[in-house]
Amino acid sequence: SYVEVLSRPPSLSPPVILTQDELKKIAAYKAVEFVESGMVLGLGTGSTAKHAVDRIGELLRLGKLKNIVGIPTSKKTQEQAVSLGIPLSDLDHHSTIDLAIDGADEVDPHLNLVKGRGGSLLREKMVEGTCKKFICIVDESKLVKHLGGSGLAMPVEVVPFCWKFTANKLQNLFEDSGCVAKLRNDSKGKSFVTDNGNYTVDLYLKKDIGDLQVASDAILRIAGVVEHGMFLDMAATVIVAGELGITIKNK
Ligand code: 5RP
Repeated sequence: SYVEVLSRPPSLSPPVILTQDELKKIAAYKAVEFVESGMVLGLGTGSTAKHAVDRIGELLRLGKLKNIVGIPTSKKTQEQAVSLGIPLSDLDHHSTIDLAIDGADEVDPHLNLVKGRGGSLLREKMVEGTCKKFICIVDESKLVKHLGGSGLAMPVEVVPFCWKFTANKLQNLFEDSGCVAKLRNDSKGKSFVTDNGNYTVDLYLKKDIGDLQVASDAILRIAGVVEHGMFLDMAATVIVAGELGITIKNK
């Protein structure tokens, strides 16, 4: 893997403090520089990916990009893309995607990711697992040493049927890491329902879960689990925007 560091643009010197959202936008705009006319694009979900989708819409409107087809990873992104006039399709019609751009909740030094705190991990994994190149875009707060080590949620999408049974199995699986499994609620205090009609169980870990591939396989063996939010070895490139500039990390 190699890391390319782009210096802070002269226009931003002397240093000004950028907000987290401005950093997300810088990473998103950098990623869109990799988009070419004629591409089939995976469109990510979340506040960082939203900037990328806005930018793609803008470049289409200005005629700087042509013949783009977008494959959205959530109903929310689908609505945004429609409002911007981005032509859309789905995986049934495009089994190959040229490039996907999406955010992440955590990025480890090997470019493994945690995704899904925004609730769209299943469609994201289907789309980003299918593309020729997946560029992940984050601000520097998302960088971690170990996935799940931030004390924040490691999401798992589960079927609603007997979700407590599935949550208990998940909690027991990572007992040695001090795992607490909680059903995610929406802003009204009701069970959060994904675009696929499923629930999300968030795993809170006190210690890292060891070998990620072993953990991934074990989670997927539990009946009731649909998919989890560890995206292992999927991102080809991670673009990190920080106070000192943009870092591009390649596999
Ligand atoms: C949604 C995701 C998002 O990419 C992730 O939650 C990051 O979100 P944001 O860009 O808003 O920080 O995985 O399921």
